[in-house]
Amino acid sequence: MSAPGLNRAVNICCIGAGYVGGPTMAMIASQCPQHRVTVVDVDQGRIDAWNRGPLPIFEPGLEELVAGCRGRNLFFTTQVDAAIRAAEIIFLAVNTPTKSFGVGAGRAADLQYLESCARRIGAVAEGRKIVVEKSTVPVRTAAAVQAILAAHAGRASFEVLSNPEFLAEGSAVADLRQPDRVLIGSERTASGEAAAEVLASVYAGWVPRDRILTTNLWSSELSKLAANAFLAQRISSINAISALCEATGADVQEIAHAVGRDARIGSRFLQASVGFGGSCFQKDILNLVYLCQHFGLPEVAAYWQQVVALNDYQKQRFARRLVEALFGTAANKRIAVLGFAFKKDTNDTRETPAIAVCRDLLVERAQLAIYDPRVSAGRIEADLAPWLDLGGHIEVCKDPYAAAAQAHAVAVLTEWDEFRSLDLERVYAGMLKPAVLFDGRNVIDLAAARRLGFQLHAIGRAVPEPRLGGATR
Ligand code: NAD
Ligand code: UGA
Repeated sequence: MSAPGLNRAVNICCIGAGYVGGPTMAMIASQCPQHRVTVVDVDQGRIDAWNRGPLPIFEPGLEELVAGCRGRNLFFTTQVDAAIRAAEIIFLAVNTPTKSFGVGAGRAADLQYLESCARRIGAVAEGRKIVVEKSTVPVRTAAAVQAILAAHAGRASFEVLSNPEFLAEGSAVADLRQPDRVLIGSERTASGEAAAEVLASVYAGWVPRDRILTTNLWSSELSKLAANAFLAQRISSINAISALCEATGADVQEIAHAVGRDARIGSRFLQASVGFGGSCFQKDILNLVYLCQHFGLPEVAAYWQQVVALNDYQKQRFARRLVEALFGTAANKRIAVLGFAFKKDTNDTRETPAIAVCRDLLVERAQLAIYDPRVSAGRIEADLAPWLDLGGHIEVCKDPYAAAAQAHAVAVLTEWDEFRSLDLERVYAGMLKPAVLFDGRNVIDLAAARRLGFQLHAIGRAVPEPRLGGATR
């Protein structure tokens, strides 16, 4: 059942023009031309890129979406105060990374950016404002936001809502256009529920009402952490099985298919890989672990911590197997790395498993030849800079064949579609022999690669022939 959105025009501001703020606001502006949407950020370069292009983030369909409403009812600016003053609804979509210092370092969420937004809103706002937590936050953060805002309640009144975002990078536009659900948490008061209804009515401009869920504030905040933890847990579960497959000759893809056919389990998010990456899974689980410890639940904390530990193991295991396949040393050997983004269809490299694998290979003094269709050379160099003075070396290449030329090994680390149709013969012809191929994403046609003579290694898949020399396992 679909219900109409708000008839009246609403002025919306979003603080944070990143992977969430930009696409989410573009979708609202596109679907609800009656509303005026202003996205603000302190990063002038990012705002310029949203205004003039190329857009600061790559997402399929995003350019068209933004082009369709930018300058009409979608605006990007660094004029934060003016946008706050003009808005009825203010989204907070700033980054909430893992704290790197002080109490909770390495686990707790760093809420300094969120807090500074709340202070700014408190300082400049007048009248009635609905403040929406779009960022992923620890449960009970709304109480802190409310407390900061309340300190300024003389000139303005505030209602704080939780509205976590569930989009995945690479499919953000499709996810926003047809979300599985929109979650809105509010205080269970008349004014809280009225504010939730205003926000629900905005989404109802294109989202069916039965997909708009309302809960109390804390359930909404915690649902976001729980959803990411459940998704990541599935990947760590299948990756744990992949290690057992490699030891036994079982095939993890056949297992994922068989297990996923159970309707109670389902088939998605069972793709074994070199490990999950991205800016959120690890940080959100660590945040959950910290919360459990904080609330005196060490067994629950240990349970979720293991999802991250298994992911670290999976990334380390990949690099270790690769070095073993190179007769125990990667020093001065050229290794082609195909794919650097944390998944296909994004230029985002935050927490990408490629950084961990490349780091371990640079420590072994390897010569890395890296190719990614969307990640810039500057980004790759910056991500690997901490390990560049250990004797290893990196070269960023313009295509996979240039990377593979004269290489001892090729490692596929991102599942870009173009790697599924690689000209394996050309790759093999350019490589030194024995030519080692490690498929960290199970995208390579193993039978075809075997016929060409590659020494093959995949994630959780039986290697189709006995290997020579007994150097690998
Ligand atoms: P991001 O780093 O891409 O963007 C955040 C932006 O906020 C940056 O451009 C930064 O300059 C800006 N900012 C920080 N402090 C500011 C301030 N005081 N005033 C104005 N601008 C400020 O982050 P992101 O990936 O968009 O994530 C944002 C939030 O959404 C995080 O909490 C994240 O966990 C959550 N989330 C992310 C995704 C995703 O796919 N990336 C999905 C769902 C939820
Ligand atoms: C994830 C969630 O899917 C989103 O719902 C959530 O909003 C978002 O985190 C967030 O909070 O930031 P995202 O990290 O963008 O989205 O991408 P995913 O598709 O979840 O992939 C995450 C990582 O897991 C990638 O490295 C991917 O390659 C890996 N993955 C995913 C696997 O290894 N196997 C799978 O079966 C699925």
